[in-house]
Amino acid sequence: MKITVFSAKAYDKEYLQQANRGFELAFIESRLNQQTVALAAGSQAICVFVNDQLDKAVLQELKMMGVQHIALRCAGFNNVDLEAARELGLQVSRVPAYSPEAVAEHTLALVLTLNRRLHKAYNRVKEGNFSLQGLLGFNLHGKTVGIIGTGRIGLATGRLFKGFGCQLLGHDPLPSDDWQAMGGQYCALQKLFSEADIVSLHCPLTPQTRHMINDQSLALMKDGVMLINTSRGGLIDTGAVIRSLKNRKIGYLGLDVYEMEGDLFFEDLSNQIIQDDLFQRLATFPNVLITGHQGFFTHEALSQIAATTMHNLYLAQQQRTDKTSFLV
Ligand code: NAI
Repeated sequence: MKITVFSAKAYDKEYLQQANRGFELAFIESRLNQQTVALAAGSQAICVFVNDQLDKAVLQELKMMGVQHIALRCAGFNNVDLEAARELGLQVSRVPAYSPEAVAEHTLALVLTLNRRLHKAYNRVKEGNFSLQGLLGFNLHGKTVGIIGTGRIGLATGRLFKGFGCQLLGHDPLPSDDWQAMGGQYCALQKLFSEADIVSLHCPLTPQTRHMINDQSLALMKDGVMLINTSRGGLIDTGAVIRSLKNRKIGYLGLDVYEMEGDLFFEDLSNQIIQDDLFQRLATFPNVLITGHQGFFTHEALSQIAATTMHNLYLAQQQRTDKTSFLV
């Protein structure tokens, strides 16, 4: 079976080749979209990542070329028109769980860096500036953390905050016993917004959750709140967040994802003029820390992603399915 791997970086090649189960892998650096879909010609399956576009038109092209299976090498699937895939008879698999700790630990890295201003301290010390002015932080111990989405990553993140002695408020339409066993409470979203010192987003991007962080929800939050998003950029209305940074409602913002990241992330644009004015405005705030969707980027996670992706492709080749990984 020939598989075209889109958005393939050197690390994707390395890990997928190591886990390969005898497939012919064709690596393409470009993202999948209507302009690049023709590159999948001759493949029975394709392998894609978070910013590849699998809208109806692209899926129709894939179907016409004879592609039968789409293997997402990620957990989120908001970039795939699943309804269209179903209608066209295209199978779609993903990697539902690889290493929730990878994203949870990155979430804590953002929290600790923002709080203790490590990004500033690093540069200061390099320049021989040992002043502490402006580096004042707060103890995490005793603070209230609101986790929206207490699934795999939300739970792993809760455990880490628990280790710091934080109180945990959770909100999820599907409450889990594990969350409560760990000492977390569940509450309505309004209560979480109004009581949390730190709000961390861990739910999927769906039509219901899109822009859940907006002018109204921000108004409910504590002055100086720390907001962290390592889930999907579309959960946040970026314009509303910029307004709340300007009027100091938000005291700290940590982002690993961004609404329009498809035009920016995973590429070296250091010699280009970035045209996204919202992103550029965000990056100017001293209390904003942005990383380019690297929460998943650990050795353990990449190994697991590659192994599960190959397993999904193997099942597809055998005309077998697996309820946990197969979306269609
Ligand atoms: P999961 O499926 O285990 O948990 C998601 C939870 O969100 C579920 O418990 C679900 O009931 C809950 N949820 C759904 N709608 C909700 C709502 N309206 N309000 C509150 N909770 C809601 O997924 P997992 O593995 O924990 O991943 C969470 C998200 O993290 C993914 O959807 C993905 O977008 C993101 N992610 C980010 C990565 C990164 O590198 N930054 C890597 C992997 C995932």
